Amino acid sequence: MKPAVLSSLATVAVVGAHNIGPLYPRQGSSGAPAGTSAGSAAAATPTSFSFSLASTNPTAIPLGNILSNAPSQPTHALPSTFAPGTTPTAVSGAPALPNAALLAPSAYPSLDVVVPTGSPEVQQWIQDVKNSGVVIPNIAPNAPGGCPNNTVAAADADKSRCWWTCTGCVADTDIVDCPDKLTWGLTYDDGPSLYTPDLLTFLAANNLKSTFFAVGSRVISFPTILQTEYMEGHQIAVHTWSHPSLTTLTNEQIIGELGWSKKVIKDVIGVTPTHFRPPFGDIDNRVRAIAKAMDLTPVIWTRISEQATFDTDDFDLHSGLTTASHVLQNWNYIEGNATSSNFPTGFILLEHDLFQQSVDIATGYILPDALAHQPPFKIEPVISCLNQPLNNAYLELNDNSTNPPPISATTVVTGSASATGSSGSGGSGGNGSNSAVSTVGFPGLGPALALTLTLLSGTTFLLL
Ligand SMILES: *[C@@H]1O[C@H](CO)[C@@H](O)[C@H](O)[C@H]1NC(C)=O
Ligand SMILES: *[C@@H]1O[C@H](CO)[C@@H](O)[C@H](O)[C@H]1NC(C)=O
Ligand SMILES: *[C@@H]1O[C@H](CO)[C@@H](O)[C@H](O)[C@H]1NC(C)=O
Ligand SMILES: [Zn+2]
Repeated sequence: MKPAVLSSLATVAVVGAHNIGPLYPRQGSSGAPAGTSAGSAAAATPTSFSFSLASTNPTAIPLGNILSNAPSQPTHALPSTFAPGTTPTAVSGAPALPNAALLAPSAYPSLDVVVPTGSPEVQQWIQDVKNSGVVIPNIAPNAPGGCPNNTVAAADADKSRCWWTCTGCVADTDIVDCPDKLTWGLTYDDGPSLYTPDLLTFLAANNLKSTFFAVGSRVISFPTILQTEYMEGHQIAVHTWSHPSLTTLTNEQIIGELGWSKKVIKDVIGVTPTHFRPPFGDIDNRVRAIAKAMDLTPVIWTRISEQATFDTDDFDLHSGLTTASHVLQNWNYIEGNATSSNFPTGFILLEHDLFQQSVDIATGYILPDALAHQPPFKIEPVISCLNQPLNNAYLELNDNSTNPPPISATTVVTGSASATGSSGSGGSGGNGSNSAVSTVGFPGLGPALALTLTLLSGTTFLLL
């Protein structure tokens, strides 16, 4: 945690706990069906936006055509493809590339709904989490609707539960920026999609590497795109199976969502990611502890204050909730903040490769401008901006001697468990007693609410 961020969070916490409206629309509306709660934000926004760009792509889609009702563009081939059995060269010691054609979608959960927890796979992962010795804090799942719809949790959001979506509370283990000034940990979420090849072609042509937070439901739909991302040296990371708001799920559902997305990625590329991004940034100390027990380190995005989050809002172009010029104004503000002498570190911002509009604005405008920015940005995957080798992005290739995984075979399980997720230290809710604490379950919450959460969560992948 950086002092500058800490001091601004103190102010935000007060606002967050008492604000009656969504803090910022999509986080505040996590779990609600698309379009139900973003109207207030749209009504409050001005109608014209200004921006300036140092460079644009000569082949960019015109800004006026980056609209929700734009006709679907033709899709293009991947910049490269790799035969099954090829040995990866971007990482060392990796197994040969699996044969994606052999993967049967029927062997995986249904697409875009929260995974069932009764399967042998999920039951095994639940047991693994218990065996990890990580204490899961006793926090009931949130209702959908984020901060405004969860007053008890909101009042505690900057304290024991450290709920990022609500107040921006950051735990020591969260990655929210890059240590070195002017360094940009480039990330794209929610793919792979039909338009990801266009992004990969632009990145390859400009010798850029990114982190891709892949949704399991998309990975099983487009496995060869994920293989190209991996083989070209991009970082692959987890973004759940069905894109729910994780704080609204039971412990068992969270384990299932993370477990299946880890598994499908390993089945497609041969190795398991060590990093994940919670959809909507929706994480608290309960989610952090489960992720830690599953060897996943959270990556969110930079948030200086409630107003200055490093989110271009590119996701909302597809639905028409925002416009291309608004997104570019957001981008200019991010550049301004990232360059400002008040901001000591590098940064991570939120962008997406699920829809053509988000890819069009990235390849046509944001990335060309970023490449021409003075002073120059250093643009690289999150793992690289952390000054770690790409190998450390994968469990099987991680250098355990210099970078011990959250849970390793050598984890010492100590006798007394005092940690139940104290403020700002979700990751330290760690090595508790194996026997004294039940690590799975949601005490105090009946099956009726759990069922409601399951039913509501299926629509959320459309939101962010
Ligand atoms: C608020 O939570 C209740 C359950 O407690 C749920 O029925 C309702 O849909 C939620 N509202 C929103 C806007 O998500
Ligand atoms: C930082 O971001 C905020 C909110 O988007 C914006 O109002 C402000 O102008 C930005 N600062 C700079 C130096 O660009
Ligand atoms: C690091 O430890 C993991 C088990 O946690 C193991 O799978 C992996 O192979 C180890 N890394 C190397 C480079 O041996
Ligand atoms: Zn997402």
